[in-house]
Amino acid sequence: MEFSDRMNSFGDEIFAALNVKKSKIEAEGRTIYNLSIGTPDFETPEHIRKAMADAAMDSQNWHYSLGDTAELLDAVCGYYQHRFGITITPEQVASCNGSQEGMGHIGMVLCNNGDTVLLPSPCYPVFIAGAKMAQADICYYPMTKENGFLPCVKDIPEDVARKAKYMIVSLPANPVGSVGTPEIYEEIVAFAKKYDILIIHDNAYSDIIFDGAEGNSFFNTPGAMDVGVEFFSLSKSFNVTGARISFLIGRSDVVGAFRKLRSQIDFGMFLPIQQAAIAALNGPLDSVKKQKLLYQERRDTLCKGLSAIGWQIPESKGSMFVWAPLPDGYTNSMDFCIKLLEECGVLCTPGSSFGPLGEGYVRFALTMPPERINEAIEEIRKSDILK
Ligand SMILES: Cc1ncc(COP(=O)(O)O)c(C=O)c1O
Repeated sequence: MEFSDRMNSFGDEIFAALNVKKSKIEAEGRTIYNLSIGTPDFETPEHIRKAMADAAMDSQNWHYSLGDTAELLDAVCGYYQHRFGITITPEQVASCNGSQEGMGHIGMVLCNNGDTVLLPSPCYPVFIAGAKMAQADICYYPMTKENGFLPCVKDIPEDVARKAKYMIVSLPANPVGSVGTPEIYEEIVAFAKKYDILIIHDNAYSDIIFDGAEGNSFFNTPGAMDVGVEFFSLSKSFNVTGARISFLIGRSDVVGAFRKLRSQIDFGMFLPIQQAAIAALNGPLDSVKKQKLLYQERRDTLCKGLSAIGWQIPESKGSMFVWAPLPDGYTNSMDFCIKLLEECGVLCTPGSSFGPLGEGYVRFALTMPPERINEAIEEIRKSDILK
């Protein structure tokens, strides 16, 4: 079978080697500290689970939903008002099966073959996959140590800016753990206006932000609604990753076109999931606030603990990740991850899997309680990996 050229653009499964090692170590009965995948270990709040369970008992809720109910759209608008102070209307909201799926498809809404798109590097991999699905040309802007792991639109060459169709911005950032400031967002909005670029803001971590900072929406920036859309995911705030609940919010022309594309391939979100989303959006937010502090405690445990044994790691400011430069003497993140797994049973993700500027780092996900993180640190200390 000759598959499409598109399939060649996705490359090989880079995690295959790590997975083989992981299975071998598990078969030996050794403990694995899995800090690799960003799947939260916190509980889904009970009122959300109950709303879904109750709705699932009604057989009327098992037919195609054929779209977002008015009740769901109102709940999203209400949430944006009370959480971010932003007024939006139902035409400015369209659901998708997680931001992952939405990001995977939005390039097809906006681009013709060969259009240019601007993506951060390193970045969450679906930003790259979505551009490839759209057969767009990718230009990366750096999110590296030199610019504080933040977008710097002044450094984007004029010829690239002139031809770019859209730019993805995602703060708090996966994998680098940086957070936005009002000034940075103002620069981005001005840049988008000057060059007529659509900003796609991925706001997966608005509720996981540390040291007293408050997570916002892109639309808290004046003028942002003229130039952008935002993916708003319930996955991490409410620990509903498996339910696949996210929304594209913002400019109604873009949201409408996105809804039209998705209606070609999807019959709408399962109604019990819509009820779970409504319960989350209309319900109490105390567990969301508490969880942010628990993530911060994990960050402190990991960064301070590793620094104390000689691996200096800057503290992330948001997201559920820590971006760790390779210890002295190592240059290849995949080789380092395999060694860390084999010698210490600690699994993390090689920086090279996050795009061209990710090499030289590994990513830790804060998905274990402090006690287990300390055990993982102790395994690293006992090994000769930092010697
Ligand atoms: C930056 C970023 N965007 C999107 C997602 C996926 O979110 P969802 O569960 O809504 O697909 C993730 C998941 O880790 C992420 O890190």
